[in-house]
Amino acid sequence: MNKVTLTINGQKVTVPAEYTVLEAARELGINIPTLCYDPRLSKPGACRLCVVEVKGARNLPASCVTPVAEGMEVETHSPAVMEARKTILELLLANHPNDCLTCEASGACLLQQYAYEYGVRDPGFGGERHAYPLDDSNPYIQRDLNKCILCGKCVRICAEIRGQHAIHFAYRGFSTKIAPALDTDLAFSNCIYCNNCVSVCPVGALVDKRTAGLGRTWELEREEKTCTFCEAGCQFFLLKKQGQVVGVAAGQAAPGRPLCLKGRLGMDLRYNPKAQPPYLRNEDGSFRLAPWAEALGLTEILANLQKEGGER
Ligand code: SF4
Ligand code: SF4
Ligand code: SF4
Ligand code: FES
Repeated sequence: MNKVTLTINGQKVTVPAEYTVLEAARELGINIPTLCYDPRLSKPGACRLCVVEVKGARNLPASCVTPVAEGMEVETHSPAVMEARKTILELLLANHPNDCLTCEASGACLLQQYAYEYGVRDPGFGGERHAYPLDDSNPYIQRDLNKCILCGKCVRICAEIRGQHAIHFAYRGFSTKIAPALDTDLAFSNCIYCNNCVSVCPVGALVDKRTAGLGRTWELEREEKTCTFCEAGCQFFLLKKQGQVVGVAAGQAAPGRPLCLKGRLGMDLRYNPKAQPPYLRNEDGSFRLAPWAEALGLTEILANLQKEGGER
């Protein structure tokens, strides 16, 4: 494996030649803020929050898409970098609702966290703001596009990991937004409510409706578990408040495999003390109690048959 040695903030580090500057900085434990980066997904270099200063470069490149090079000298928190990041955050907040007090993402929101870290209080920019209606068209996901920062992670995880391609970038310029085909509500799209997009949204634009209102992020304990529904064994978190299970969230321990629909819904049911075991009809018409894994397996087969038949 080819290796290169570079210097970041005065510290030398040797990393594989295919690393990016962001990955090399993380090897040193240096925290560069990111909004659109996810190691499991393609890298559009869209938000520019991860900019760094590279000696000899004319501008500030985005570290998540800049490859390392032998002898490179990088500063991750120079005054010019800090100023650029602050301006990016100010621009994002200039068209963002002031809703942190009641937002479901508060406490876990990266925009909120970085605004705090970089001391962004009053964006100071006037101008037009979006006023999108809330998409509350289905029982699983609430979409508030007024909080969307267009990082594109939801679009990429839906296409690149889920393979569903249910949402896309639509329109141009100020009107750009994330939307299903024909700019309809999610309920009228080919979304299968796997919630993968919710698990990567860095802000409160996508909310899991089943856990909404059940606890603030800092009130919830997270117990790491392994899904037992198939051999992939995805990691996930059981969310508990005062000992009571209130939901599940995708884990980080299995990159590339966020929980599938069966895992997410099934784990909700398996650990929910109020969930009754399902009944399945036998061939002779009688009913029997069945394990959730079997019942959910059947619903998945039905969903796939429907998809193949072009129905919803
Ligand atoms: S998305 Fe983040 S910054 Fe926006 S209102 Fe919610 S918590 Fe606040
Ligand atoms: S819930 Fe799943 S299928 Fe629906 S938009 Fe999100 S990632 Fe795509
Ligand atoms: S909805 Fe969330 S994940 Fe999708 S583009 Fe907007 S901020 Fe990013
Ligand atoms: S995290 Fe690098 S451009 Fe968004």
